Amino acid sequence: MSFSIEILPAFNNNYAFVVSDHDLGLAMVVDPGDGEVVSRELKKRDLYPALILCTHHHPDHVGGNETLQQEYDVPVLGPAKEKALIPGISRGVEHKDVVTFSTLRGDVLETHGHTDGSVSYYFPQLKALFCGDTLFTLGCGRLIEGNSQQMWESLKLLKSLPDDTMIYCGHEYGELNAAFAVMVDKENVELRVRAAEITTLRKQGKLTVPTLLGTEKRCNPFLRADDPEFRKSLAKQRVAPEDADAAAVFGKLRSAKDRFGQKGL
Ligand SMILES: [Fe+2]
Repeated sequence: MSFSIEILPAFNNNYAFVVSDHDLGLAMVVDPGDGEVVSRELKKRDLYPALILCTHHHPDHVGGNETLQQEYDVPVLGPAKEKALIPGISRGVEHKDVVTFSTLRGDVLETHGHTDGSVSYYFPQLKALFCGDTLFTLGCGRLIEGNSQQMWESLKLLKSLPDDTMIYCGHEYGELNAAFAVMVDKENVELRVRAAEITTLRKQGKLTVPTLLGTEKRCNPFLRADDPEFRKSLAKQRVAPEDADAAAVFGKLRSAKDRFGQKGL
């Protein structure tokens, strides 16, 4: 079986994803905020959607569910905790559930924080994680419904995945996130290199998604709230006291990011 993952830009900075099984002519769609964009792609590539996965209930991730269901007989899976908020949902999924598409098996991971029920989908065979608005390139989602403890637990869970996992996040926030990351983590040489790469990519009109988890573990400040050296530096900058626990350090960083730029999530 050969699979490919297409990234479909929608609205201002959203991404939906189409995973296709070329042999069967079938597709799995992730977070179709804009149904028209996804439908056009499916037609262009002569694919039938077998499954829609939703990470959380925000309209820019689920707004196209019913548009696609009007055209195709396709089930929608999404977090069980947000079942009442997800249009067209057929089945709610929970932590450690398994979703299947063709020969692929995906693990459902509970990644609450951005919303109360957000989930991520990890497909080991693809080395791919679809995490909605939980983890971004050099950033993470805002705490819209959850708290810093919940989000830190979610990020720790994602950090436990293999370094060669590609992260397919729901928005293009790479450039703004890189600017914040470099500001709070000035000593991080690899981060500077990654930030420069992101600037170049954006200048060329290219995407900063997907991003490699291994790089994120070393460069994304929100994944490094438990790193002793980084915590020393944050204490010197008066972002968070050195003796605070990792979830509290994460919370201070997230608040600083909220103040830094209003544009991203
Ligand atoms: Fe969201």
